[in-house]
Amino acid sequence: MSQSPVKVAVTGAAGQIGYSLLFRIASGAIFGPDIPVQLRLLEITPALGALEGVVMELDDCAFTTLDSVEIGDDPRHIFDGVNLALLVGARPRAKGMERGDLLEANGAIFTEQGRALNEVAADDVRIGVTGNPANTNALIALRNAPDIPAERFSALTRLDHNRAISQLAAKTGARVGDIRRMTIWGNHSSTQYPDLFHAEVGGKNAADLIDDQAWIENDFIPTVAKRGAAIIEARGASSAASAASATIDAARDWLTRSAEGDWVSMAVASDGSYGVPEGIVYSFPVTCSGGDWQIVQGLEIDDFSRARMDATAAELIEERDAVDQLGLI
Ligand code: NAD
Ligand code: LMR
Repeated sequence: MSQSPVKVAVTGAAGQIGYSLLFRIASGAIFGPDIPVQLRLLEITPALGALEGVVMELDDCAFTTLDSVEIGDDPRHIFDGVNLALLVGARPRAKGMERGDLLEANGAIFTEQGRALNEVAADDVRIGVTGNPANTNALIALRNAPDIPAERFSALTRLDHNRAISQLAAKTGARVGDIRRMTIWGNHSSTQYPDLFHAEVGGKNAADLIDDQAWIENDFIPTVAKRGAAIIEARGASSAASAASATIDAARDWLTRSAEGDWVSMAVASDGSYGVPEGIVYSFPVTCSGGDWQIVQGLEIDDFSRARMDATAAELIEERDAVDQLGLI
């Protein structure tokens, strides 16, 4: 392994998602088998003891791709020189809570971490936000990191994207690998809009193939949009392994390349594409290559899609105004 190591920060590393995520990053799931990874793990002080146990387990895996592990509770130290920061650490919602309820509780974490990244991260840093409310936390972080270009920040809607693919595969009997061009528009919340009108199953338009508007409206969209709540209800805890897996998928595709002829869903700072207002972090269909992303342009948007895309944008504008009022941006 002759390539130089990449420094990856993970926050909330002693949490549920961390427990799935760290082992996959350490074993090469983002950067492949030839690039050594230096893990830099951030936790709050009371969780550092538990995190030491996780580090013992990382050691015990003897991953050939894991170069070093450093832990700590100071973001300025942990983020020093990082090329990728995965911001997972935040309180998950409990039964009956909406993600918006987390704005105040979690928002402050992202002002501090945005500032620390601004000061000490590597010049090429990419920042992926998984902690909820993910879109608005990413907005808080990017607004507190004025020297880092806004396009280096994204929030995770890949889990919703993967959930939508899985539901469509089950409905059509297709294999997951036959499904392309899935899109999640908007917020990682129950207002998100999973769009089947541009998705393809084995090269055929998904909505035409299904030919069942009632299923799309009353079954597919709510199942995907409320999947997080269904998992909390069933497990008594929010999704963890699937969230970690989606965090890996998103980082890998962003830093390497999305599949030829396909696109992925990523929440990024809106540039006004598709009439989505600037100043919010909104999920779009994007293609990625080498750490850059581009919003897929030119998709036709009918009235049904427009209404849903606007509703989820309106929720993000409300969240932005709320964190503005709280003085977080
Ligand atoms: P968890 O409670 O198991 O772990 C969170 C960890 O973050 C804890 O160990 C906590 O000590 C740590 N933490 C809290 N404040 C911190 C800070 N300032 N700095 C560093 N670490 C800090 O939660 P989890 O199940 O791992 O979920 C983490 C977050 O991810 C939650 O907000 C959850 O809602 C969110 N989530 C997002 C998605 C998505 O698709 N975007 C999916 C699932 C979960
Ligand atoms: C999810 O989508 O599983 C997570 O964001 C957890 C939640 O609060 O829904």
